[in-house]
Amino acid sequence: MTETLTIRRPDDWHLHLRDGAMLAAVLPETTRHFARAIIMPNLVPPVLTSCDAAAYRSRILAALPEGAVFEPLMTLYLTEATDASDVAAGAASGLVKAVKLYPAGATTNSASGLTDFDKVRPVLEKMAEIGLPLCVHGEVTDDDIDIFDREAVFIDRVLDPVRRTTPGLRVVMEHITTRDGIDYVKSQGPDMAGTITAHHLVINRNHILVGGIKPHYYCLPVAKREEHRLALRDAATSGDTHFFLGTDSAPHPDPLKQHACGCAGCFTATNTMSVLAELFEQDGALDKLEAFASLNGPVFYRLPANQDAITLTRGAPVSYPSKIDTADGPVTVFDPGFALHWQVA
Ligand code: DOR
Ligand code: ZN
Repeated sequence: MTETLTIRRPDDWHLHLRDGAMLAAVLPETTRHFARAIIMPNLVPPVLTSCDAAAYRSRILAALPEGAVFEPLMTLYLTEATDASDVAAGAASGLVKAVKLYPAGATTNSASGLTDFDKVRPVLEKMAEIGLPLCVHGEVTDDDIDIFDREAVFIDRVLDPVRRTTPGLRVVMEHITTRDGIDYVKSQGPDMAGTITAHHLVINRNHILVGGIKPHYYCLPVAKREEHRLALRDAATSGDTHFFLGTDSAPHPDPLKQHACGCAGCFTATNTMSVLAELFEQDGALDKLEAFASLNGPVFYRLPANQDAITLTRGAPVSYPSKIDTADGPVTVFDPGFALHWQVA
């Protein structure tokens, strides 16, 4: 049995760091293992302009733990008022690495998201011209669409039409949760990619709902049926260059998760690499972990892979904190429900 595994240092292509005290508390959990991360812009207020992104980037750098080497890859929050020339200037300066599309009301702090997709046509055309990726929260928000169908419906009603009307637009379908999402991304060319979280590789909807409601497994898009989880596992462990890691690690203090109207988000930054190694080992695919966590993402984002490496070692069950203390209260670390044996050395 393999006992150590050395791979290029991984990156996280979808991360929520928040701001202020929460940022300071959760940032070390990411910088311990990851070299870079695509930073989500759904702050309150959101990161709307290049100027906002520059200021947020400075706050992240100021919060880095001593000695940490980490590059935040900044994104802008797409609204119907986003200025194409600001996006282009932000990208040209190297600051802005992607633009994030939230359908209005789809998830946490998405109230400023899109209702009328035609209004952003000029921004999307500019992005296609300059090759700047659009990161998509792929769920429709219509009341009459069942929450478990929202991703599949989004592909037909929004994603595919937008891509057809904006040829050359480079799109990441983020945190894919369905076989439909996997099949769509896989069938497309190199302008289309998909991120997959660690938690969606572990849980299906039964984990959230059977035997009592588990608020720490509630995230958006919500975990689906087992057949979908298995499709995600196949895609992640296949080595297919369309797919790479985006943890969607999303901290919320426990009082807001364990609540009558609990927040969506799983906090996985602490143990994602241990979880992934365990899963890839279970699937006989440890040789594909590097592609998923460290190689495929940089290719899509047209960045070099990291030069340095991490080594994972296999041994007795790994212990990691079950909660991270923050000024806003404890944040529960994702519990995969089984022992983890791989540890980043
Ligand atoms: O579960 C989620 N939490 N999904 C998202 O899309 C947003 C995130 C958050 O910001 O908490
Ligand atoms: Zn997210």
